[in-house]
Amino acid sequence: MDRYCVFGNPIAHSKSPLIHAEFASLTQQQLSYDKQLVAEDQFPQAVAEFRRQGGQGANVTLPFKQQAFELCDGLTDRARLSGAVNTLYWQGDQLWGDNTDGEGLVRDLLRNGVELKGCRILLIGAGGAVRGVIPSLFEQQPQSIVVANRTQAKAETLAQHFAELGDISSCAMDEIDGAFDLIINGTSASLSSTALPVNADVIQRAKCCYDMAYGSEPTVFQQQAKQLGVSKSLDGLGMLIQQAAVSFERWRGVTPDPQPVYDLIKRQL
Ligand code: ATR
Repeated sequence: MDRYCVFGNPIAHSKSPLIHAEFASLTQQQLSYDKQLVAEDQFPQAVAEFRRQGGQGANVTLPFKQQAFELCDGLTDRARLSGAVNTLYWQGDQLWGDNTDGEGLVRDLLRNGVELKGCRILLIGAGGAVRGVIPSLFEQQPQSIVVANRTQAKAETLAQHFAELGDISSCAMDEIDGAFDLIINGTSASLSSTALPVNADVIQRAKCCYDMAYGSEPTVFQQQAKQLGVSKSLDGLGMLIQQAAVSFERWRGVTPDPQPVYDLIKRQL
């Protein structure tokens, strides 16, 4: 049976085995998909050993996405641009890396009726999560992207890094001004239930607010948006399922329907 896995540390919480088992069942694919806890200094060895045992492909989660990027012999354009890899596969003896996070976000937004072409996007945060999605967002030809971060210098570094892809600029989080169609929270503030110090006017004018985090209840950012009357506020569960679907597609050549898996995981949160 073809073998896949997800490498991470910690990894016990990962929903990837459940998601991929459901995809396999929905598409009648015979495969196994496990979690692998890897010591921080053992990532290259773990990948090599997995391949030696017949592994066909793998996902990579924290803290190994950058190490995976460095380990690969070949990279897709979006993985190269984002500097991080979440999906590994082999072509002959060569290890290849892709980053499906951005495509997962885009698919989830489009599926929820959010128009991206010509859209003015505000991205809040400047860590790995935000960096990983910028190339795929630009593929949708938005009008502009503004990156706002608590530490402005990091937002500025990202804006400079992606300048060749389109209209991108940066600002400090408490200085955000202007009108945006879509606001995406890519900070880890939701995980600590912290409200973001973003001007209420800016949130109020958005057509959609999206939090890359998710939980059993709406996130603090979703609550902020709702209180300010934003009609559409989404969390990142759809992105999680969709990035997995893009990985599955790369490995298996078939596209699974994300909806049944979304419903299943939503019920379990
Ligand atoms: P990830 O890989 O999840 O993106 P990261 O690289 O550590 O994690 O980045 C975390 C992001 O969340 C950063 O943009 C961070 O802002 P700083 O660069 O100023 O540290 C942001 N962040 C975390 N906690 C925050 C909070 N309480 N308020 C605002 N921003 C926060």
